[in-house]
Amino acid sequence: MTSVKKTNVPLQPALLLINIGQLLTLRSGSGAHGPRRGSALGELSLIKDGTVLSVGGKIVSVCTTKEALRDPWIKRNRKKIVEIDCQGQVVLPGFVDSHTHPAFVSPRLVDFEKRISGATYEQIADAGGGIRSSVDSVRSSSKSMLAKKVLEALREMGEHGTTTAEAKSGYGLTVESEMKSLEAIRDAATRWPGTVVATLLGAHAIPREFQHRSPAYVEIVCKEMIPQAAKRNLAQFVDVFVERGAFSAEDAEKIFDAAVAHGLGVRAHAGQLSETSLRPLLRFNVASLDHMDRVSDDDIRQLAKRDTLATLVPGANYFLGLKEYPPARKLIDAGVPVALATDYNPGSSPTCSMPFVLSLACTHMKMSPAEAIAAATCNGAWALRLQERKGSIQPGKDADLAVFETRDYREISYWFASNRCAFTVLSGIIMASVGSGELG
Ligand code: NIG
Ligand code: FE
Repeated sequence: MTSVKKTNVPLQPALLLINIGQLLTLRSGSGAHGPRRGSALGELSLIKDGTVLSVGGKIVSVCTTKEALRDPWIKRNRKKIVEIDCQGQVVLPGFVDSHTHPAFVSPRLVDFEKRISGATYEQIADAGGGIRSSVDSVRSSSKSMLAKKVLEALREMGEHGTTTAEAKSGYGLTVESEMKSLEAIRDAATRWPGTVVATLLGAHAIPREFQHRSPAYVEIVCKEMIPQAAKRNLAQFVDVFVERGAFSAEDAEKIFDAAVAHGLGVRAHAGQLSETSLRPLLRFNVASLDHMDRVSDDDIRQLAKRDTLATLVPGANYFLGLKEYPPARKLIDAGVPVALATDYNPGSSPTCSMPFVLSLACTHMKMSPAEAIAAATCNGAWALRLQERKGSIQPGKDADLAVFETRDYREISYWFASNRCAFTVLSGIIMASVGSGELG
């Protein structure tokens, strides 16, 4: 699976991070394969007083600081290497935020107030608010304005420790506006040193002009949007919002058939507001099923046998003021591989903060801090099928790191609504977070 290509990125010099108090490598045990599930989800493969060396944007060595400083190559080249003393801080693989909707123009403040007064997400959508109310501004927006919005979001994600983000279209809902949204994502991605995976979400809502004619809209998604996005290499995945009032499992099957025929990966929003049987979708090689607040025991058994991630997005539950959160414990204990993501969007989850999502996962879903980190890194990488390059700190993988100004990794979920990310390394490029002190 390819992600957006970068042009004109200079070859990164050697970078040495030393004196890392807790280096969470997330390296899998030998013989382990597939995304993390069950008890393996909580294994961080932690090195105390660790060091990471990267050259040309790739990790080349991971060991203790003592071992690194004895290494003949490091000794010989030390003057040429950019060296950062982490002074006992925590380093982990950069977060992989595998579910975001950054291609929108404005916040949805009217919906926000209506919900505070008691209306539900569905009632607001039925009354003309919701996803459809973000559409007019995206349709009339210029591509460069949209790209600016996407870039702002990517930068904010990076400040919170995210080094790879998925980015969906989905607020244009015409061929032209969906392609414009994907082009905006591509343009923003070329100006951010992190990695972006683009997803076509033409099937996000049935646009007003197709009300009561949803089959005709599904036909446009299949026959026009998917072929164009694939031909122009604007998306790696196709997503569908499978929900009452949005798209049925049958619609999703048609859309997935078209995606597969055009060489694109598939993923879906499922079980957010109502339960849908996942069986029809599971005949496809679905990378991830997201939300999953409502899922049957039979579907849990099916998912436990596959590499399809259940990506949980508790920011949406928090922001919609719901009492219930996705059943993380039940899924993990049954052996379903679970990922965590922000679901950054203007309607249900306006946050770019993976640390906040981790905190919600711990306090409201009873995931341990270690499980939350693995779900947000190596399993996030699996959800984007980038597991060969991302999600763990191992020689050969991309040098994508997040450095937190904490002594203990559990503090990342503990200090909620606070950003302790000091800096990130994105394919070997160092980016300081706003408010962080001097590097090293
Ligand atoms: O994942 N559920 C569908 N899509 C988004 C919400 C998008 C919106 O309300 O703008 C979600 O929660
Ligand atoms: Fe979403």
